[in-house]
Amino acid sequence: MVIRQKTIWENFLSPVVRFFIDEEKLQRYADSIDWKKESDRLWRNDVIIPDYYSSRNFHGIEGGYLNFGAAVSYDPITQYVLPPNETVVRQALIDAVKVKPRRILDLGCGTGSTTLMLKQAFPQAEVIGLDLSPYMLVRAADKARTANLDIIWRHGNAEKTSYQDTCFDLVTASLLFHETPTVVSQTILRESFRLLVAGGQVLILDGNQNTLRSLDWLNNVFEEPYIRDYAAGNLDANMGAAGFEAVQTQDVWWINQVTSGIKPIPVTNTATQKQVRQYTPTSIDNNDLEDLGSPVFGIKA
Ligand SMILES: C[S@@+](CC[C@H](N)C(=O)[O-])C[C@H]1O[C@@H](n2cnc3c(N)ncnc32)[C@H](O)[C@@H]1O
Repeated sequence: MVIRQKTIWENFLSPVVRFFIDEEKLQRYADSIDWKKESDRLWRNDVIIPDYYSSRNFHGIEGGYLNFGAAVSYDPITQYVLPPNETVVRQALIDAVKVKPRRILDLGCGTGSTTLMLKQAFPQAEVIGLDLSPYMLVRAADKARTANLDIIWRHGNAEKTSYQDTCFDLVTASLLFHETPTVVSQTILRESFRLLVAGGQVLILDGNQNTLRSLDWLNNVFEEPYIRDYAAGNLDANMGAAGFEAVQTQDVWWINQVTSGIKPIPVTNTATQKQVRQYTPTSIDNNDLEDLGSPVFGIKA
C-alpha cells in the first residue's frame, strides 16, 4: 500500500494560514449559496470531464475542483501563496498584453480573479472565463456580479473548447499549466493557437519553471500531482511547437513567470490574396470580428 506523505502545506503552512482565515465567514458564505442549483445551471452535458482531472486530488481536496469546498477555499488560500502579493503577480499578465483585445478567453479561469482584472483593464472587450469546474464558475460569477462586471462564464475543457477558429485576439491562462499533464498543456496551446486570429496573443502565467527545477522542495508545498512534469518542461519550446512566434518568458518575482506568444500573420501572396481574420493594432474596432460573423459574439454561457 502506498502511503501518501503529508505536504509542507499540510504540515506547516496550513495551520498558519488557517490562523488568518475567518472560517466562520467562509462557512456563512458557503451556506448562502445553493451550490447544486447554481452549478447545475452552468454545467454543460456535452463537456467530458477528463480522467487526469477527476481522478486526482488538488491541494489535498478530495474530488479536486469538482465540489463547492474547493471554490469557497480557493481565494482565501491563494492570496497567501503568490509572493509578493496576488494582485502584483496577476497584474504581470495584464501588463504583458500587447494587443488591444476585443475578445478575450481566460482558460482554466477558476474563481475568476484574473478574468475580473482582464475585464477591468479592457472594459470594451467581451471577456469569457472557461473552466472545467462549475463550482469554481459559480464563485467567479458571484465575484463578477459584486464587482458589477459583465463577464461570460462557460463550463468547458480548455483542450477542446468548442468555439470556432479565430474567435479571439487574446487567450490567457493563469495558474493552469502546473495542474495539467504535459500532454494536456500541449493540447491547450494548440487549441489556443486555433482560437486566435492571426496576430493574436497567448499569455500563460504560472510557476517559474527554472525556480521550481532548482528548488525541488517547492514542488512539495501543495498536493499538485503534475507540478514536477510542469517544472521539468519548457513552456517556450512548447509554445514554439504549437506554432507561436515571438515567444518570450519573463520572471515575475522569481517564483512565477509570464510567457507570451503571438500567432504569426501569414505572408499573403498578392496574386492569391485571401481575407484572413487578423489582428490589426492600428485599426481597432470592437465590431471588426462581428463583421466577420464571429461565432463568439453574443454567446452566453
Ligand atoms: C489553480 S486553478 C487557477 C484558477 C485561476 N486561473 C487563477 O488564476 O486563480 C486551476 C483551474 O484550472 C481548471 N482546469 C484544470 N484543467 C482544466 C481544463 N482542461 N480545462 C478547463 N479548466 C481546467 C481547474 O478547474 C481550476 O479551476
